[in-house]
Amino acid sequence: MRLKIYGTGSALPAKKVSNDLLSEYMDTSDEWIRSRTGIVNRRLAMEETTSSLAVEAGRKALEDAKAAPEEVEIVIVATFTPDCSLPSTACIVQDQLGLTHAVAFDLNAACSGFLFALNTVQAYFSAGVYRTALVIGAENISKVVDWKDRGTCVLFGDGAGAALCRAEDGAACNFVQKSDGSGGAVLSLKERPIAHLFRECDEKPGKMYMNGQEVFKFAVRKVPECIHEVLDLAYLKPEEVDWYLLHQANKRIISSVAKRLGIPEEKFPTNLEEYGNTSAASIPILLDEVNRKGMLKEGDILVLSGFGAGLTWGACLLEW
Ligand code: COA
Repeated sequence: MRLKIYGTGSALPAKKVSNDLLSEYMDTSDEWIRSRTGIVNRRLAMEETTSSLAVEAGRKALEDAKAAPEEVEIVIVATFTPDCSLPSTACIVQDQLGLTHAVAFDLNAACSGFLFALNTVQAYFSAGVYRTALVIGAENISKVVDWKDRGTCVLFGDGAGAALCRAEDGAACNFVQKSDGSGGAVLSLKERPIAHLFRECDEKPGKMYMNGQEVFKFAVRKVPECIHEVLDLAYLKPEEVDWYLLHQANKRIISSVAKRLGIPEEKFPTNLEEYGNTSAASIPILLDEVNRKGMLKEGDILVLSGFGAGLTWGACLLEW
């Protein structure tokens, strides 16, 4: 049994923040951000939360797939920015969407989270445990970035994307997923200082830290490598793929991957210009956009690939 996506959805906060607006609050410029990353705008959650965005994206994916809430047997939310530690965002989604027969849990693999969640679902499908799944990537990153660190805060945005998946005979589906904990220090978020009955602490919760250049080097090396690996599993060549949907972190990373694969950039749609890096939400938001624009035909071969903190990275090859 293989995973096939039947419907997609996405949700974005209403507040649009341009590079120019950011430059009124910090020492940066539209030219700097645009030339180094390709990002022009991002959405920042004001009233929205990770769970409200996840619920909206999930509802749209159910509608797009014409799936009844009771049909869903598992819901996984990939996020590193849940509203709260308990309950999980997935349990909030399960309740609010009336997914009465679904088991629900969150998964944290940072920006690779949506891919890791899809692979988890694929494993359940292969084992015959479940047949219908809702996979969501949802983030509220604006609440954890350090707004005094201009090299990092300008890159991120908030949002959610979702896919309704069903187990099906025959459809192509391959995964490669990787982790290297020894690289954890290049992108970290130590939110909770240790404080308890026997240890007083007046430290404030930590903010996100990133060594941008190290992340850049890691991404341009590992993404093409794992795409080649997933193509080998499917006995396909790079040119046989119809669409490459990559994690939307940086236009220069995407251009470098296209070049290394020898594939024209037209096969790499982007939306980071409008939303910045939305971590686990970036691939499903992009997938929803290309789906709703009617760019995907039945039988198209899609490669989804991403990278992020952990370090984590991976690729997924799907038949649409
Ligand atoms: N506006 C203006 N100047 C800025 C700036 C900003 N927002 N942020 C940093 N700068 C300055 C730096 O202070 C530095 O100045 P200096 O030379 O006087 O010290 C200069 O710009 C160059 O900084 P540098 O870090 O060398 O830039 P870069 O070309 O490496 O680009 C990133 C920085 C973050 C855009 C780039 O490294 C990157 O995109 N990395 C990948 C990050 C990523 O994808 N993260 C998500 C992982 S899921």
